[in-house]
Amino acid sequence: MNAKPVIILGIESSCDETAAAVLSDTNILANIIAGQEVHKNFGGVVPELASRAHQQNIVPVVDEALKKAGVKREDISAVSFTQGPGLLGSLLVGGSFAKAFALALDIPLIPVNHMQAHILAHFITPPPGLLPKREEEQSKPSFPFLCLTVSGGHTQIVLVKDYLEMEVIGQTTDDAAGEAFDKAAKIMGLPYPGGPLVDKYAKLGNPLRYKFPEAKIPGYDFSFSGLKTAFMYFIRDNGMDNTCSTPEEFISKNLNDICASLQHTIVQTLIHKLELAATDLGIKEIAIAGGVSANSGLRNALLEMQATKGYKVYIPPFEYCTDNAAMIAITGYYKFLQGQLAGQDTGTKALLYF
Ligand code: KG4
Ligand code: ZN
Repeated sequence: MNAKPVIILGIESSCDETAAAVLSDTNILANIIAGQEVHKNFGGVVPELASRAHQQNIVPVVDEALKKAGVKREDISAVSFTQGPGLLGSLLVGGSFAKAFALALDIPLIPVNHMQAHILAHFITPPPGLLPKREEEQSKPSFPFLCLTVSGGHTQIVLVKDYLEMEVIGQTTDDAAGEAFDKAAKIMGLPYPGGPLVDKYAKLGNPLRYKFPEAKIPGYDFSFSGLKTAFMYFIRDNGMDNTCSTPEEFISKNLNDICASLQHTIVQTLIHKLELAATDLGIKEIAIAGGVSANSGLRNALLEMQATKGYKVYIPPFEYCTDNAAMIAITGYYKFLQGQLAGQDTGTKALLYF
């Protein structure tokens, strides 16, 4: 007789997405995300507005996830939530909801590290049909592997030894890769978050038209703040040469090539460090995770590494790249199996390391 599956309700509220997901073992039953339009006019996420929007969204989002999954509350084995890192007010909403839910149903509570969850998104079994059969079969990395975790707040190279045994071996010393995309996009007058738009325009442009500096930082660490400054001066200076009279004119005439060249620089910076770490450690299994792993230039560069250098690369489906609760639920699942549960005295943390 088959053992009863473990059903986990996962809750994510670290930044500006309110999300809930239900997993039966590693299989996804529901994955609901509510974005927040309220930040649109501010060029970035406004923390206080984010927590208020989470408060409005959390109940309907969880309700929809449970309905879609077709599970009853009493079938849920445990509730996992994002403990950090993230915006404190936002984390508090998801964390408090999860605690109340666990208390009411008398089920275990599992705090999850958001960055660890981005990596474990690779172990979610997607619904049938989301991936081609061949990719579905090969879509879970084997240990040990290296994961380049690139989001709006983090850029890390992580040595993943087991589901819950990970070591950050390189990280950014200043801006994250996603921030580099978003800040450069803001300089060009594009709305927040600019990363997906830069990606869109880059597909139509020449990546070698303009040259931007790649920071030389020791070891496996990164720096993107110099690129941001160089980009700002590049736009200012080209906007006043003899072919254009304003930065806006220069941008509108050359948007695709500017985006392609910027993206090329960011992607090459990431790939160079990733390859350095992989060579030094003799690891051929490579994964990417986090919002920036949705970037087509980065995805293509990884596929190129696989085709030409014998690496085996793992790229998550788009749904599991940017913030979602399925990744919180799968991490909750592995913690549940290992008995890593918490009591009602557990808290949320804006800064959280592993
Ligand atoms: O992981 P995520 O959803 O949230 C954080 O934990 O930060 O990552 C968001 C980041 C933003 O900086 C966004 O611009 C970037 O991921 N991003 C992209 C793309 N899609 C999302 N950057 C470049 N190209 C994309 N296609
Ligand atoms: Zn994230």
